Amino acid sequence: AETHHYNFVVQQTLEHRLCRAHNILTVNGQYPGPTLQVRNGDTLVIKVLNSGKYNVTIHWHGIRQMRTQWADGPEYVTQCPIKPGATYTYRFPIENQEGTFWWHAHARFLRATVHGALIVLPKLGSPYPFPTPKHEIPIILGEWWNRDVISVQRLAIFTGGAPNVSDAYTINGQPGDLYPCSSKGTARFPVKSGDTVLLRIINAALNQQLFFKVANHRLTVVEADAAYTKPFTTSTLMLGPGQTTNVLLTADQTPGRYYMAARAYASAQNAPFDNTTTTAILEYTSAKKGVPSRPVLPQLPAFNDTATVTAFSAQLKSLAKVEVPTKIDENLFFTIGLGFVNCAPGPRCQGPNNTRFAASMNNVSFVLPRRASLLQAYFQNIPGIFTTDFPPVPPIKFNYTGNVPRALWQPKFGTKLYKLKFGSTVQIVLQDTGIFSTEDHPMHLHGYHFFVVGQGFGNFNARRDTPTFNLIDPPARNTIDVPVGGWSVIRFVADNPGVWLFHCHIDTHLAWGLAMSFLVENGVGKLQSVSPPPADLPPC
Ligand code: C2O
Repeated sequence: AETHHYNFVVQQTLEHRLCRAHNILTVNGQYPGPTLQVRNGDTLVIKVLNSGKYNVTIHWHGIRQMRTQWADGPEYVTQCPIKPGATYTYRFPIENQEGTFWWHAHARFLRATVHGALIVLPKLGSPYPFPTPKHEIPIILGEWWNRDVISVQRLAIFTGGAPNVSDAYTINGQPGDLYPCSSKGTARFPVKSGDTVLLRIINAALNQQLFFKVANHRLTVVEADAAYTKPFTTSTLMLGPGQTTNVLLTADQTPGRYYMAARAYASAQNAPFDNTTTTAILEYTSAKKGVPSRPVLPQLPAFNDTATVTAFSAQLKSLAKVEVPTKIDENLFFTIGLGFVNCAPGPRCQGPNNTRFAASMNNVSFVLPRRASLLQAYFQNIPGIFTTDFPPVPPIKFNYTGNVPRALWQPKFGTKLYKLKFGSTVQIVLQDTGIFSTEDHPMHLHGYHFFVVGQGFGNFNARRDTPTFNLIDPPARNTIDVPVGGWSVIRFVADNPGVWLFHCHIDTHLAWGLAMSFLVENGVGKLQSVSPPPADLPPC
């Protein structure tokens, strides 16, 4: 096992997109940021210097951080932000994990441009559970904003109307041929006829679920969220923000040029979105002259094609048999709701009738502390930062996916944690609601990899739905799509002590409070404890 040292300098960088110059926040002047490639068992040491103008933190999405909780990264959860001019060093081993991960800023909307791939290869000498590909291509899907993302966030939070939508989707930082002034930069991937390559696809978009397709080529899915899956072949993928999918692609078509393309999957009926398409080009190195210069464009599903999404996720199964907890200690039921809260008239209150947007789980809209991070408050017994009374079930029963009474549209603010005993087995039913609008939500749990044992539409019904759970080979994920107007059920063992954020990976929803945190209480013994914070942990 090796130790890898990296320097990340967070800085403002001038980039040109969509016919204009724009100053964005990057790591080391790169957008997307540097790809880190390590092996299972290696240790990473990343020194982050904040040379930008905003407070920032970095999160290592999907890495479990067993006993390295202080390196997880979400601001005010496991650390206070790194202030401009300050540094913080993230240090953590990769323990029994491999696949496609990514890193991103976890402070306000900064991850829009501060993100990159984190690839964990198998240990030296251990092969993939599929034929070794000729080469690998990281593909990062993103969103481009012509305006400063912090101002986008302000708009999203304080207006009662639609949040601003992005100006383009991107593949590896480039909008691609179909957008103005974008042909020159379009990402190109050369491939030799007959070769099989591994695409490591990451959805780093701020707010948008995306369909992904490569013209004329079939994709064999072999991994999702850094867990191997039983291989299956499909033409279309859907990734929610935060999710990753690895596919094998064989260059078995007429030598030529083919677009790979991504476009929105928009499940909410009334939410605005950008219906444009981002493209990159798969180029056969043997393509002869005389091949039409315009690459073939794949036909992507309609923006509201939920049937394709459902069919895709139903095919995801763990490669191996897995150990799913069957005796459940903690049976939790969390509703996911969008809604409004009243506010005092002013610039921060621009919704209808003196309101602004708020989102909640079990009617609690999550508020980040400011004086100390949750983990610090827990570790150092700082009172008044959080409470541990997050409700295990919704405050009242209602027809979740029907027309919800207006009284339920107004959540309560709180910094509420739910305590889990170390080693307990947990089931969470995640139920989308019709509070304001049903919508597909990519829910991400820090510090864990959970099994997705069931998914469906309408209201979850324990008696009817529990017997249909897959307890044999459910996929292990870190980010799960809760279907629009439906439910997902996840299970895991609370074997990682610490404070772990659980949230919607649509950043607008996160900013509205669609989050909660678990506090997994220390077990007995060294291996299960939270160790003292590193000396350079940023102060609040
Ligand atoms: Cu990918 Cu809480 O984040």
